[in-house]
Amino acid sequence: MSDKAILEINGQKHEFPLITGTENEVAIDVKALRGSTGGVITLDPGYKNTGSCESAITFLDGEKGILRYRGYSIEELADKADFLEVAYLLIFGELPTAEQLDKFHADIKANSVVDDDIKKIIDAFPKAAHPMGVLSSLTSALTAFNPSSVNVDSEEDMYNAIVRILGKFPVLVAWAMRKKQGLPLDYGDDSLGYVENVLKMMFKSPNKEYEQNEILVNALDKLLILHADHEQNCSTSTVRITGSSHAGLFVSLAAGISALWGPLHGGANQAVLEMLEAIKEDGGDTKKYMAKAKDKNDPFRLMGFGHRVYKNFDPRAKIIKVAADEVLSDLGVEDPILDIAKGLEKEALEDQYFVDRKLYPNVDFYSGIIYRAMGIPVEMFTVMFALGRLPGWIAQWKEMRLRKEPIGRPRQLYTGETLRSFTPIKKR
Ligand code: ACO
Repeated sequence: MSDKAILEINGQKHEFPLITGTENEVAIDVKALRGSTGGVITLDPGYKNTGSCESAITFLDGEKGILRYRGYSIEELADKADFLEVAYLLIFGELPTAEQLDKFHADIKANSVVDDDIKKIIDAFPKAAHPMGVLSSLTSALTAFNPSSVNVDSEEDMYNAIVRILGKFPVLVAWAMRKKQGLPLDYGDDSLGYVENVLKMMFKSPNKEYEQNEILVNALDKLLILHADHEQNCSTSTVRITGSSHAGLFVSLAAGISALWGPLHGGANQAVLEMLEAIKEDGGDTKKYMAKAKDKNDPFRLMGFGHRVYKNFDPRAKIIKVAADEVLSDLGVEDPILDIAKGLEKEALEDQYFVDRKLYPNVDFYSGIIYRAMGIPVEMFTVMFALGRLPGWIAQWKEMRLRKEPIGRPRQLYTGETLRSFTPIKKR
């Protein structure tokens, strides 16, 4: 392949270098476009064809259904690693040795207390507040309680900020849920693994010992691994672009949490469950909802189907589908919602509309079913996604700062009024 692309505008040829990634993906480097063409820009709403950065963290091939973190396949990581190992891998680039992992975990535990005054902020939220709004606000508020900015040129400073947020974030997650349920806001248990601690903080009753359930621990561990990174999606791009102004780590993460909340992104897992519930309430007629999804005059979309990048299948959905079956059978849960989900999946996979548009179940189609079996309230589903995505956001923010990327500032094509003169208010 040639190493340059040629663009012809008004009979004049402009050359741009082609850059090839380690997986042979090719990009046209258009950095010089405006300069060499006298102001011409590329226009790509939704960035369907636009790379915002070079990154060495996550590789995915949507056509082949491949997802790898730092070169390791998602299938192997979900099978053999635990969430904290994956977090370390994403953030620092290599799998940790046993010693490195122990230290990492010990440092996270040493940072797993939040300022008790955070409880006053939580008290000010109405009980009906959505936990994603609470989580985003509290993550932002952490900046006020930890005001020193991260010196990104200091490895130690960077490391300290990372273990601080990995320690405190699960506390905020648990408190966002417990506040809604009127349960006391407690701290974790240093004797436990990261995921076990999350479960205990979320579910411990004030008057009972908490008993760990290995099935739930393994299922949550797997879910968090599957969600841990997904290259330049909406929330990750938000974290990177917020951080590109040199805003701090915690507020950049808070921006990412807000972006994740939307139903077209992380909020889809809540939307899936609500959709399945609605179908059940409406008599379980999946065909009716399939027809609605295909009707262009109906805004209804089959939540949990389709993906911007995966146009074959979502490899995470495959793993999670098996996990959902295992968890439900291990826990002895018989859930009519699962039958509706399976019915919809079967119909969609055989339906020409879905086949033509390459719409397959995505990770969120099944994650909600597992969360529900675990006793996690529907409104917390996207919060659980955020907990899983945290290491990915951190890794991407760190990479962006270490590569000294410029501030993110897209261009636009102006389509509004041209110059006109002001009409005084009395004459309008
Ligand atoms: N149900 C019905 N039709 C759909 C769906 C769906 N879930 N998704 C896409 N389509 C149709 C569109 O109407 C469009 O049809 P057309 O070509 O006839 O106009 C076509 O498929 C392409 O859809 P786009 O919206 O252009 O695809 P895009 O890549 O922009 O969107 C997205 C991807 C947002 C995920 C979309 O498929 C969707 O809204 N899915 C439901 C929400 C969801 O599950 N989101 C979770 C994504 S995974 C995650 O964030 C972890």
